[in-house]
Amino acid sequence: MNAEPLAARLAADRARVDACLAKLFEARQPSAPRLEAAMRHGLLVGGKRLRPLLVYLAGRALGAGDEALDAPAAAVELIHAYSLVHDDLPAMDDDDLRRGQPTVHRAYDEATAILAGDALQSLAFEVLARAAHPRLPALIHTLATAAGRDGMVGGQALDLAAVGGHPDVEALATMHAHKTGALIRAAVRMGALAAVAENDPRVTALDRYAAALGLAFQIHDDVLDVTGDTRTLGKASGADAARDKPTYPALLGLEGARRRASELTEEALSALAPLGEAGEPLAQLARYMIERDH
Ligand code: IPE
Ligand code: IPE
Ligand code: MG
Ligand code: MG
Ligand code: MG
Repeated sequence: MNAEPLAARLAADRARVDACLAKLFEARQPSAPRLEAAMRHGLLVGGKRLRPLLVYLAGRALGAGDEALDAPAAAVELIHAYSLVHDDLPAMDDDDLRRGQPTVHRAYDEATAILAGDALQSLAFEVLARAAHPRLPALIHTLATAAGRDGMVGGQALDLAAVGGHPDVEALATMHAHKTGALIRAAVRMGALAAVAENDPRVTALDRYAAALGLAFQIHDDVLDVTGDTRTLGKASGADAARDKPTYPALLGLEGARRRASELTEEALSALAPLGEAGEPLAQLARYMIERDH
């Protein structure tokens, strides 16, 4: 598959998950309209939708139909959006710009942003729980574990605890694997489990792909914080150094960080070998994810 059809495929998948997400706000009488507006602000405007794309591509690579992938794709993006709303709060990274617009607590207020994040999280599980799928408990378990104390939230706690400190590369890798890697692994695993049972060896291969890619992705995010400009990023560049965040460029230098990200991407690509041709779209997405400029 060359780059052109993949780009069209990704655009179609983004449109597909966007339609699923938009539908969650249609034909209903919101109990709390301002809360609901804040949720839409954090979820619907902008965003690359990379985690839903991973659900679709991983699922299709193992033979799942698109309908089986919609709920996991929407659910993982809901968790991701919630994590960003909370990540931007004054008590955490204190950022004013996200996806090219004011962060939710800036556009609304702090309490509303906290509640919007909470409600996006529970909506993720509502969406997933009402999907009809024979392996639904495994899908819910995958997302819940990845979102919580041993996954994203745990990683965010490590991130906050490390501010101003000097973690070594191993500690940094653990933090990144949790705060960002866990949800990327969950996206790939949910796609896979929508198609095949847990004991299929391709699930393990895809998990190796996702673990390496997840770490590479956060390293590249750290690199972009140094090399990107605010306009292209849609979020403030230089924010990590300004807040004394431990990052790969801070520890290994820009070149060292870039080298580590590309080694990990190679690792991700080689993990796809057991999938043969079917793994090619996932290989292309991995390359895009660490060559992206925003
Ligand atoms: C940003 O994720 C936060 C990280 C985990 C690095 P994305 O770069 O996927 O953000 P959006 O969804 O495209 O805005
Ligand atoms: C965010 O990491 C990870 C999350 C769980 C949201 P960052 O704090 O580096 O993400 P950005 O740079 O604000 O998007
Ligand atoms: Mg953060
Ligand atoms: Mg942040
Ligand atoms: Mg960042």
